[in-house]
Amino acid sequence: MDFIKNEKALRENDPEIYNAILGEENREKKGIELIPSENYTYPEVFAANGSILTNKYSEGYPGRRYYGGQQFTDIIESIAIERAKKLFRAEHANVQPLSGSPMNQAVYFAFLKPGDTVLSMDLSHGGHLTHGHPVSHMGKIFNFVRYKTQPDNEGKIDAQELIRLAREYKPKIVLCGYTSYPRDLNYEDFKKAADEVGAITMCDASHYSGWIAGGAMNNPFDYGFDVMTTTTHKSLRGPRGGMILCKAQHAKKIDNAVFPGLQGGPHMHTIAGIAVALGKALEPEFQDYARQVLKNAKALAQALIDNGMKLVTNGTDNHMIVADTVASFHINGTEAEIVLDKVAITTNKQIIPDDPNPPMKPSGIRLGTPCATTRGMKEEHMQKIGKWMADALKNHQDENFLSQIKQEVEAFCEQFPVPGL
Ligand SMILES: Cc1ncc(COP(=O)(O)O)c(C=O)c1O
Repeated sequence: MDFIKNEKALRENDPEIYNAILGEENREKKGIELIPSENYTYPEVFAANGSILTNKYSEGYPGRRYYGGQQFTDIIESIAIERAKKLFRAEHANVQPLSGSPMNQAVYFAFLKPGDTVLSMDLSHGGHLTHGHPVSHMGKIFNFVRYKTQPDNEGKIDAQELIRLAREYKPKIVLCGYTSYPRDLNYEDFKKAADEVGAITMCDASHYSGWIAGGAMNNPFDYGFDVMTTTTHKSLRGPRGGMILCKAQHAKKIDNAVFPGLQGGPHMHTIAGIAVALGKALEPEFQDYARQVLKNAKALAQALIDNGMKLVTNGTDNHMIVADTVASFHINGTEAEIVLDKVAITTNKQIIPDDPNPPMKPSGIRLGTPCATTRGMKEEHMQKIGKWMADALKNHQDENFLSQIKQEVEAFCEQFPVPGL
């Protein structure tokens, strides 16, 4: 593996792309990354992901492929599968989904016919696009019925309401999991609602599967869930991909839904990177990392509250925080994202439950602590970050003040190296 030679080839032969990559490298080093769905992957993952496996076609599954020359790809995919099963106490794992969206699509196609119903989280309350947003193809093919969170009750989900909705709409899948929800889930409630109507239980743990792996959050399989999906590039710190874990009885349906149902050749370079990341998540240090991410999120939430920010659930059980910037500082989420970008703190605009404002000018922002924790930041650093954020938002019209914070943030970031750079 000659990475130095490869880098030289790119530098000499395509300087435009090379320089843009260097620019991104610099941006990632200099600022505080708080987008909760991002992370810094491991140098080992870069090595696997950038390897010659990119060259290989491997349609099929280990031991039953449609192309020759699979001695090594079979080893790699089998290791990834075994590590995934061990990490999540799952009976079966499919590591081929090209990313999170096709991963969820494959599960829907495995169990549903067009027009069938899925009970899933309301999108403004935290559900993901692939949980049936009307603009997504899935939202057009299947019938998504929504449950909401209770903003007045710290964002908890009403168990009785889940059962009522299940009885009324008879979903084939009861789906939990979220992209913007700072609480843990009570999997027993979802299982009970699904059992009422014989539905499949599915958890999209994309955002927090790393904390399940690290023993810091509950595992849906401990509550009898049928299927868990997860992206591999968020809390797991792997390359961009997806995985479907399930009970053995669903293995055939899931595998057929991924290939040949939805995809062709798996990205073997990504699967090698996933195997490496799963190996790292099996090490005891990963449990410390998972716990620290959650501690940091609590510390950041408290620092924001102390500095006048209104949080949507008044706190967090996971790595994520949703802040209502309109109620806090009369500034919408889009403006807040831009102001924070000016001080080298990266967050994303976010709709809040039943948001009166449109998605491109929503009422809040979403942030989280996986990246900052990967760089070695701890609770005391979260206090600083919370104060910088609130100060910037309160004084967003004062450009001099913002550039002063930016300098402080950049100097602070120098103490925390980015893995792999
Ligand atoms: C809960 C959840 N599911 C699925 C996805 C889709 O993943 P991808 O962007 O890899 O398609 C995301 C992405 O943010 C997510 O948060």
